[in-house]
Amino acid sequence: MAIRKITEYPEAVLAAAGKPVEAFDDELKALCEDMFETMYDAEGVGLAAPQIGLNLRLFVMDCDGVKLVAANPEIILTEGEQSGQEGCLSVGKVPAVVTRPMKARLKAQDENGEWFETEAEGYAARAFMHETDHCNGKLFIDHLPKMRRDMVVKRFQKEKRWK
Ligand code: NI
Repeated sequence: MAIRKITEYPEAVLAAAGKPVEAFDDELKALCEDMFETMYDAEGVGLAAPQIGLNLRLFVMDCDGVKLVAANPEIILTEGEQSGQEGCLSVGKVPAVVTRPMKARLKAQDENGEWFETEAEGYAARAFMHETDHCNGKLFIDHLPKMRRDMVVKRFQKEKRWK
């Protein structure tokens, strides 16, 4: 197991649509372990492959009691609306309020390639959508109006300079 380096905005891999996961082998299982370790080390609740520099449709999460590996994830159903604070390990955890659906149904493959569907609401549903977005080359700041997006980016860049 190893902690991987987290890629940060505006690295290109974060804006690229991921390639499908095709091999469900030991290498993938080791990668998922590294991703969990990297996520816990950074005190995050979700981590997608582009966030460690891999152009792959894969994420791990452990959020609000929902712990899973999702390969080739898709959000197949949403319902309602929630507004809440969101942040991202690739944007220095600078928080911003994002409006998203309240419930989401996720369809994905586990680390063995088995398809599954699962539903969540609130914070865990937010994580499903945030991490699936990463697999599609989208960041949470892409959901913000331009002025608020610019504010988050500025704050992130400023905090990075002081590290
Ligand atoms: Ni993120």
